Amino acid sequence: MRKKLIAGNWKMFKTVPEAANLVNSIKAGLSKFSDADVVICPPFTALQVVSQLVNESVVDLGAQDMHFETEGAYTGEISPLMLKDLGCRYVILGHSERRAYFQESDELINRKAKAAVKFNLIPIVCVGETLAEREDGRAQEVVRGQVRGSFAGFTPEEMEKVVIAYEPVWAIGTGRTATPAQAEEMHAFVRGLLKELFGESVAGELRILYGGSVKPDNTQELMRLPDVDGALVGGASLKAESFVQIVNESTHDTVKEGA
Ligand code: PGA
Repeated sequence: MRKKLIAGNWKMFKTVPEAANLVNSIKAGLSKFSDADVVICPPFTALQVVSQLVNESVVDLGAQDMHFETEGAYTGEISPLMLKDLGCRYVILGHSERRAYFQESDELINRKAKAAVKFNLIPIVCVGETLAEREDGRAQEVVRGQVRGSFAGFTPEEMEKVVIAYEPVWAIGTGRTATPAQAEEMHAFVRGLLKELFGESVAGELRILYGGSVKPDNTQELMRLPDVDGALVGGASLKAESFVQIVNESTHDTVKEGA
């Protein structure tokens, strides 16, 4: 069974003291929790302090982006080596905000994802269609192109080290979540595509997260869908209470069954 993964994407929020406060509250709320993998992705400036605070806790550390080169003359960029050095285990790549505001292409995301795997960082590669693309009936075609492009040249062994996040752009930060039927349809589609491209074992094991206005009160209905393996949470990860609640709700059925 695929273990749920709940990732908090703090985006461009939280100064260092604010980040320390938030991570301490999250840790306190999650102290005995171990049914889901939990990762928080603060801004680069807070990675070091958060890394020290999550050390030996159930919370893992992730970054929100990175360059594909190990080092070099790339002013303003951060390398996979630097992220490893700070204790990062995950890195979000190709978030729709990076695609939209920084013109990131599937080709660039592919280079970054390859570099992440090479450095033993687990890339959380984001895909998802815009509202116009969905209304045009092109949602699956767009997501298919993003998956093929982002993982071009990957071997099945490399694919075992990645996570995909399906985030419909129209659901991000809008309060408008995909319905469970819309989410499951796309997740099952991506899983089918993975099977076609990389084989049954990759398709069966790769975790596909849902992202886009995930909140405590819609977590359960999304997380119990057969092809949804966790969540990438933006706004609701900026408050310890809602993030902890999302983590707890994500394995609600498992917890009940095990009780
Ligand atoms: P949201 O953001 O939860 O605020 O919609 C999700 C994301 O952008 O990853």
